[in-house]
Amino acid sequence: MKNNTVISILMLMGLFIAIHSAVGQDTLKDNKFKNAVENHKCFKCHGQKYYSYYNEWTEKKVIKRMNPFYVIDSVKFYTQNHCSFKCIDCHDADYETFPHDGMLQMEGMSTCLDCHEDDEKTAKYHMEGIYKEYKASVHFKKYGTVFSCWMCHDPHKYKVTARENEDISNVIIYDNEMCLSCHSNGTNNTILSDSASKNMVAAHDWLPNQKLHFQNVRCLDCHVKIQNDSMVNHDILPKKDAVKRCVDCHSKNTILSATLYKFQSKESRSKLGFLNATILNNSYVVGANRNHILNKASLIIFGLVIILLIIHGILRIIIK
Ligand code: HEC
Ligand code: HEC
Ligand code: HEC
Ligand code: HEC
Ligand code: HEC
Ligand code: HEC
Ligand code: HEC
Repeated sequence: MKNNTVISILMLMGLFIAIHSAVGQDTLKDNKFKNAVENHKCFKCHGQKYYSYYNEWTEKKVIKRMNPFYVIDSVKFYTQNHCSFKCIDCHDADYETFPHDGMLQMEGMSTCLDCHEDDEKTAKYHMEGIYKEYKASVHFKKYGTVFSCWMCHDPHKYKVTARENEDISNVIIYDNEMCLSCHSNGTNNTILSDSASKNMVAAHDWLPNQKLHFQNVRCLDCHVKIQNDSMVNHDILPKKDAVKRCVDCHSKNTILSATLYKFQSKESRSKLGFLNATILNNSYVVGANRNHILNKASLIIFGLVIILLIIHGILRIIIK
């Protein structure tokens, strides 16, 4: 009896050690947290609304409010593209001292292309092409380099979404939030001009059932040129060139197959027959959906009705 107890305790301990080391190895392999300890030095202050420090002059602990624009969401930071980075991979290492040296505000930040031009690992994103499209966009034409890639791609939370997400509603929310951060009352709304935050509902009052549309299409789907080479076109057009014709979407050749639904896995397309499957799964776009079974069934019913009519007519003639 005693031996059994000892053996089971030993077995339990073994199991515990095995699980512990498996979990431990996973976190080691998963290198997104590899700089978490280092970054905690910054998150201590930049991770919440309040920060505190010890003031050596007054010999007192001080608690102050953090500028809300300087608060970084650590959960989003560790789930984004650059999650394995140290803060000071992008920011100057002198930020480790507090108070920060005022001159640090003048530091030039790297652009996407500084790191990704000719970068083999991210070649599939065609960033050089995106850069060209972006230079043709209304934003760049109006503001030049003041409007940077970082204005849409928040350096602390940008995450590839459309390319990797099967659930279109997540993509729509994520992508539209980027635009709405300026074009509504979002966090950036007045950074460049008050008129960006014009009432979007009024600007689109020609569109019926607006709420439903904004839940089912992206701003980008109406506001960029449609080409097939890049996954997410960046050449945002002047408002006069935006899609306004209902049939552009509500028809068999819906533009949405070249934009929003471009990312849907080819697999589900070929299995269930081109666009029907993806569109039917997510929403019913009047005019764009064709269901072959329904089509055949309605033909059969139509045929049967005609045959019945003919029989009916013949019978009436015979009876007369
Ligand atoms: C003791 C709290 C504290 C710590 C630790 C801290 N910061 Fe700050 N940081 C602040 C405060 C307060 C401000 C805003 C006032 C200022 O500019 O000094 C700020 C501002 C900044 C700014 C914006 C500067 C500007 O005006 O453009 C950056 C960037 C920054 N910190 C990065 C970092 C990084 C990176 C780390 C970690 C290496 C870090 N901070 C650690 C308190 C802190
Ligand atoms: C991939 C590069 C990158 C990493 C990693 C990064 N930052 Fe930044 N950060 C930037 C850029 C670029 C800006 C300027 C954004 C802009 O101009 O719109 C910035 C701006 C800031 C600001 C000022 C916010 C503002 O609106 O001006 C603070 C504070 C800050 N970063 C803190 C941090 C902290 C803390 C970390 C680590 C947890 C960190 N950053 C990691 C690139 C980075
Ligand atoms: C300081 C250098 C640096 C800057 C600036 C930078 N990146 Fe990156 N980025 C990297 C590194 C390093 C990786 C990790 C992949 C790799 O090894 O190339 C990466 C990864 C990525 C990925 C791939 C994620 C994946 O898992 O496939 C994307 C997309 C990306 N960056 C987009 C951008 C965009 C957009 C910008 C500008 C808004 C930007 N990057 C700015 C260095 C940078
Ligand atoms: C007006 C806002 C805006 C600007 C400015 C912008 N982007 Fe984007 N970008 C987006 C949106 C929206 C997406 C789609 C995000 C998603 O769902 O993955 C995107 C996606 C991307 C992707 C991923 C594409 C893919 O194939 O998955 C890359 C890479 C990228 N942008 C790079 C850049 C670079 C480089 C710049 C500057 C030259 C830039 N972006 C400027 C809004 C913008
Ligand atoms: C169904 C297509 C469609 C969708 C979806 C759409 N737009 Fe528009 N948008 C248009 C058209 C067309 C115009 C030009 C309206 C006009 O002729 O007055 C426009 C106008 C605008 C303007 C200019 C407003 C002005 O009067 O200066 C902005 C900014 C804008 N849209 C941003 C957005 C944003 C942000 C979203 C996503 C939340 C979005 N749009 C979604 C088609 C669309
Ligand atoms: C950093 C803020 C910011 C972001 C993010 C942003 N915009 Fe803009 N956008 C502006 C400003 C500022 C203007 C010029 C407003 C004006 O002067 O009337 C503008 C103008 C526009 C216009 C109107 C062009 C015209 O002909 O008047 C459209 C359309 C537009 N943006 C679409 C978008 C879309 C789509 C997105 C998301 C992919 C987006 N914007 C993201 C700031 C932003
Ligand atoms: C960018 C593509 C796009 C454009 C342009 C567009 N729509 Fe839509 N529309 C959609 C999508 C996607 C839905 C699907 C919403 C759902 O039912 O899930 C929809 C839904 C609708 C519905 C609701 C159907 C229902 O089930 O209740 C009506 C009505 C409608 N659109 C009318 C219009 C009219 C009228 C126009 C032109 C003024 C227009 N749409 C322009 C994409 C578009």
